[in-house]
Amino acid sequence: MITFKDSTPPILPSGWRICYPSLTNSTIQQTQLLTCHIGRGSTSRVYKSIEQTTKQLYAIKVLNTQSKNMKEINIHKHINKHPNIVTLSNYVISDRFTFLIMELCSHGSLNKFHGRDQRIPETIAKTYFRQIISALQYMHKKGVYHRDIKMQNVLLSHDNTVKLSDFGMSISKDNEIRKRPQSIGSTPNYNSPENLGLCPKDSFIHGEYVDRWALGVLLYRMLVGQCPFEYKLTKNDQRLLDIEELYERIRQLNYVFPHDCLQWMSSYAIDLINKVLCLNPQDRMTLDDLQNHPFMLDYREKCMKDIILRNLQYNTMLGFV
Ligand SMILES: Nc1ncnc2c1ncn2[C@@H]1O[C@H](COP(=O)(O)OP(=O)(O)O)[C@@H](O)[C@H]1O
Ligand SMILES: [Mg+2]
Repeated sequence: MITFKDSTPPILPSGWRICYPSLTNSTIQQTQLLTCHIGRGSTSRVYKSIEQTTKQLYAIKVLNTQSKNMKEINIHKHINKHPNIVTLSNYVISDRFTFLIMELCSHGSLNKFHGRDQRIPETIAKTYFRQIISALQYMHKKGVYHRDIKMQNVLLSHDNTVKLSDFGMSISKDNEIRKRPQSIGSTPNYNSPENLGLCPKDSFIHGEYVDRWALGVLLYRMLVGQCPFEYKLTKNDQRLLDIEELYERIRQLNYVFPHDCLQWMSSYAIDLINKVLCLNPQDRMTLDDLQNHPFMLDYREKCMKDIILRNLQYNTMLGFV
């Protein structure tokens, strides 16, 4: 657990100075000023920061220093040049803390921006989905699998451009092959069936298929407002996730769409989700196929097609064609 209050200032590499909010009187020269707390994950705290000379804003992710942080940093450096991937500007490792200095995504995560348990209108969800696929295609081509796709790890910049983030669970192809068979401890709602024991003993869990599965869960979550296999129990007036029931539902591919969902989402979206949420990893639509699915066609493009088709039918009826 990260605590700043009683921590002593870490020794930083030359050129980098971090000032903690609770250590403002420290003798450390301030070049990065951590201001407010903007997010937290299972292993990190994220702060907004201002670079004192340029006044440029950043997000700084602070982790306890561990050897596995280097894996996250190296992977992030390897996939750092895509418009839909959050940029890692620099990093600092001290004896105690590791700081990842990243571009600030001022609208925060999808969850934060659109609200927990809230539906995202299909036209907007579609623009996000397109950008997430683009980022994943780039990553997969570079041999890196994200393995923790979820609402909290999809960030939005000030103009609502998608920035995929958090490569703490990511793995590169070479490591993946060496480590088979392996399982992935991803977020329960996004867990894939093969990760829950539905994988033949000797085969290994492939990050590419895991990412495809999570995309299906994510699109469902965006459009329906909750995850497809989610099951909550009411205990002491609190709604708690029932993990065992959730995992059983994933293993059985037991999900349904709300009966009135066609009032706010298209049948194309349902078709796409059904083609990604397949128990057999190899049946899941590839990223390239996803991009050409009718759901992904721009509305305007689709409307134009409809108009052309209707005109053609009309002209045929009148005997002009
Ligand atoms: N670059 C960023 N800009 C704005 N907010 C961020 C940024 N990076 C992370 N966050 C916020 O911090 C949260 C946790 O960051 P994340 O990298 O996912 O940590 P963890 O690896 O612990 O899950 C995110 O869900 C998001 O709300
Ligand atoms: Mg995260």
